Amino acid sequence: MADNRTASHVKHIGVLTSGGDAPGMNAAIRAVVRTAYYHKLTISGIFEGFDGLINDEVKPLGVRDVSNIIQRGGTILRSARSKAFRTTEGRQAAKETMERHGMDALVVIGGDGSFKGASIFSSEHGIPTMGITGTIDNDLGGTDTTIGFDTATNTAMEMVDRIRDTASSHDRLFFVEVMGRTTGAIAVHCGIAAGAEFVMVPEKKQGINELIGVLECAAKSKSSVIVIVAEGDEEGGAYEVARKVKERFKHYDTRVSVLGHVQRGGRPSVADRLLASQSGVAAVEGLIQGRKNAMAGIVNGKIVLTPFEQVIGLKKTVDDDLLRILSILAI
Ligand code: F6P
Repeated sequence: MADNRTASHVKHIGVLTSGGDAPGMNAAIRAVVRTAYYHKLTISGIFEGFDGLINDEVKPLGVRDVSNIIQRGGTILRSARSKAFRTTEGRQAAKETMERHGMDALVVIGGDGSFKGASIFSSEHGIPTMGITGTIDNDLGGTDTTIGFDTATNTAMEMVDRIRDTASSHDRLFFVEVMGRTTGAIAVHCGIAAGAEFVMVPEKKQGINELIGVLECAAKSKSSVIVIVAEGDEEGGAYEVARKVKERFKHYDTRVSVLGHVQRGGRPSVADRLLASQSGVAAVEGLIQGRKNAMAGIVNGKIVLTPFEQVIGLKKTVDDDLLRILSILAI
């Protein structure tokens, strides 16, 4: 096989996963490791997110260390939401770990909070960093979608399909809670795909009255009704929404199903594996080309690196048109 590897001023990259895990993180780790190898760089895995950087949980990774992980959910590097990395002392310890191992660049696979940490770390210590989107929430600016979102939404849709079977058999009204503390992307996408009658999301104040109106119509002609509630909806979670509806409609036979962390696990979809692979290559090659402090995302089908300062805090919210489509189709 031809050796196309090139030399670079970046010599040793550290890679970590941070925040809530997402299906496809392993595919991203694999892509980072193999791209680094391809370009003759050394690569080390940092375990337990930024905590592992502070506590020196670092191990060199070879190309075979990432064999047979592309199909696995979770993250072989494990993940954490680090409190210590929010402090200057924590970041100082992290920098010392990087120096001890000779790591001169960092790839962070995670979400907005993780990129914020990486960006502060870089400005304090001059270490080039790159972000790869790893969150099921699909709430990041600078990218059309995030690694894990497609798999999580498909999982949620499959669960709702199953719930529809039993709901129709018993003429029931189901409230299904999906993940999304601050965003309703999973709720809306899954809601359209599974033909839900109503979706409640944190970004939009819909209120119980609007829901009641939809339920009154649906109850006249439908054998089952499914309401999807994003966990962060301001009316409360699915149990709370169900309680409020039941107060008004005592005769409804209602049930609640909270899908929870089932959405975070499982084999990543083709779309997530592909995005993870493309992002991993782009992040490492970006560092080699001297790019730094940017996030690899996908915009209109193309992988792009967007500076952290343009994406951090730029929360993507659900598309109003998708909510409109849902309401048209839920008749
Ligand atoms: O960040 C992704 C996410 O799945 C959110 O939608 C959810 O609220 C949160 O993580 C729950 O995370 P954990 O249970 O790990 O704290």
